[in-house]
Amino acid sequence: MSSKTKKKITFTKEFNKQEPIPEEGIQRALELLQSGRLHRYNTAAGEISDVALLEKEFAAYIGTTYCAAFSSCGCSIYVALKCAGVQPGDKVLTNAFTLAPVPGAIQNAGADPVFVECTSEYTIDLVDLEQKAKSSSSSYFLLSYMRGHIPDMDVVSDICKNYNLFLIEDCAHTMGGGWDNRNTATFGKIGCFSTQTYKHINSGEGGLLVTDDDNIIARAILYSGSYMLYDTHISKPSPEKFERYKKITPNLSLRMSNLQAAILRPQLRILDRQVARWNERYACLEKGLNEIDAITVPSRTQKEHFVGSSIQFTLENLSYDRMAWFLDECDRRGVHIKWFGWKEPRGYTSTFESWRYFTAIPDLPQTNHVLDQMCDMRIPLTFTIRDCETIARIIRDVLEDIAQ
Ligand SMILES: Cc1ncc(COP(=O)(O)O)c(C=O)c1O
Repeated sequence: MSSKTKKKITFTKEFNKQEPIPEEGIQRALELLQSGRLHRYNTAAGEISDVALLEKEFAAYIGTTYCAAFSSCGCSIYVALKCAGVQPGDKVLTNAFTLAPVPGAIQNAGADPVFVECTSEYTIDLVDLEQKAKSSSSSYFLLSYMRGHIPDMDVVSDICKNYNLFLIEDCAHTMGGGWDNRNTATFGKIGCFSTQTYKHINSGEGGLLVTDDDNIIARAILYSGSYMLYDTHISKPSPEKFERYKKITPNLSLRMSNLQAAILRPQLRILDRQVARWNERYACLEKGLNEIDAITVPSRTQKEHFVGSSIQFTLENLSYDRMAWFLDECDRRGVHIKWFGWKEPRGYTSTFESWRYFTAIPDLPQTNHVLDQMCDMRIPLTFTIRDCETIARIIRDVLEDIAQ
């Protein structure tokens, strides 16, 4: 059939529809609503709060000594920067390709980012990182595993060692993932996770900070807004650590509530199974997209244990207008693709060029080139494998129509 007579397939499922919260979480949330004990420090005598239990369980899952819960990942990154000792005016190395909360946290700490280029595999460019570690004399590196892409962590670890960089990992997109059999968040001194609605466990909003360091966790708990109730935490260091910091650490009131923790705990228990389901869907889309001539889904190394909750692919040699047409046409057929190449930021997507609250906007031609060609698509678990096949087919059809 010629493309003129070919029936246009459309996809009707929603790209922003998550799976329901497990029944156990709903039941516990109802109990909390009935008891009214929603605040983490409002517990019955002898009771351990849902947030405290989640912190303990999450630290055990990741394999760190401690965890502190927050109201978002963005604010936990801010607290991580404070705990690392970042002072106003300090420089923080970070990915040029990341989401707005990351530069937002740096700005919140009064620091200045040193943006590092992005590779065509969508990871941080380690050659540029090393050069900028040398030339900027920064002592801090906030590594964002944007869209779950994990760089060669052996090289990252060497660079951090050689340049004495304090590494904070932004693991918003890597919960359940790792590198060479080691979880992300365990390479640096602090790791930060998100439980915002599109992440791997969903409480609408929320953040989890993990570390092995006694001093860091004491300060993080105090910053999170523990008043003088830190003793009710069960993922905590000895009381002397709190004594040391309790009068010199402001309460920033960035707590997680019991309701959020109650619905997260059962999700954490099934996370590994969910990761496998995401990766099945990713593999199906990757195969379908790689069969299209104009598309490349960059291959990933064996060592990278990623979580395929979204997929990125490169569409080469399309002009701005043609790319816009492609995205609009996919949209009309129900396939919603994000693009960081728009001239004006929109929706969730903005780039370093629109973060004008920093005085200097760097020149990063390589990142611009990668983002101009990169398409970004969510893979919710509400999609079946069949749905993923349909999506790849629609993308192929639209590209065939452009080629006409
Ligand atoms: C890469 C990345 N880092 C950090 C965050 C911040 O997470 P939150 O929304 O929980 O503040 C996000 C949010 O989507 C993100 O995509």
